[in-house]
Amino acid sequence: MKNLPDLVVALDFPDVQPALDLARRLQGVVPWVKVGLELYLAAGKDMIARLKDMDFRVFLDLKFMDIPNTVDAAVFQATCMGADMLTVHALGGEAMCRAAQTGRDRALLPGRMPPVLLAVTVLTSMGPGSLPWNPGGTAEELHDFTVRLAGLAQNWNLDGVVCSGREVRAIRASCGDGFRLLTPGIRLPDAGAGDQSRVCTPCQAARDGSDFLVVGRPITQAADPVAAARTYLEKREA
Ligand code: C5P
Repeated sequence: MKNLPDLVVALDFPDVQPALDLARRLQGVVPWVKVGLELYLAAGKDMIARLKDMDFRVFLDLKFMDIPNTVDAAVFQATCMGADMLTVHALGGEAMCRAAQTGRDRALLPGRMPPVLLAVTVLTSMGPGSLPWNPGGTAEELHDFTVRLAGLAQNWNLDGVVCSGREVRAIRASCGDGFRLLTPGIRLPDAGAGDQSRVCTPCQAARDGSDFLVVGRPITQAADPVAAARTYLEKREA
């Protein structure tokens, strides 16, 4: 039987202090934290080192998409910083995704685990009709496009993809067990979706075969974030 997915808490804060305060409270509760654009721009690479010193595994989610040479250099820097997981956009194409792997491999020190390199398929905030080239698109077309991007990312040798819970089952079936699936847009039934569109419960994503569940606002904005994190951990099973 497959292990339960790890919970990744997105530390989406505009400043260092609230991010560190919450991280301290989450020590020993969740193994992974995510540093995204907002916190990285506010806090810089020191934040990665501080979270690593607290024994977290750090997902640096900057969703690189640029020319291959630039992405190679960006992934090199992110790997040197000690990030344990990184993202590029699948829509950047094969040359860019392979350049990301070159940057990662150049930065590796002997004995260090390489960071997991994931391709973002279609943002979980996007619903049917929000692909710019297919404004009248259906949910099924969006689903199929996402699954197709995942297959391409696998052919390009990436470690896995970021997808919504709605595509996990199909991607797991077509890409197999070793391919890592990370799922944002995770919500309990009574939680607000915010700007997310393709949301899914922790239990459904776990059952369909996700490896990582990313939860931000339902935990960071809860009255008791630690209790909320524990609830999301428990709800992977029921
Ligand atoms: O607050 P919420 O749970 O919606 O946060 C989800 C987190 O996952 C955000 O930090 C967002 O940047 C990230 N993310 C996402 N959809 C993707 C990739 C990353 O929501 N496709």
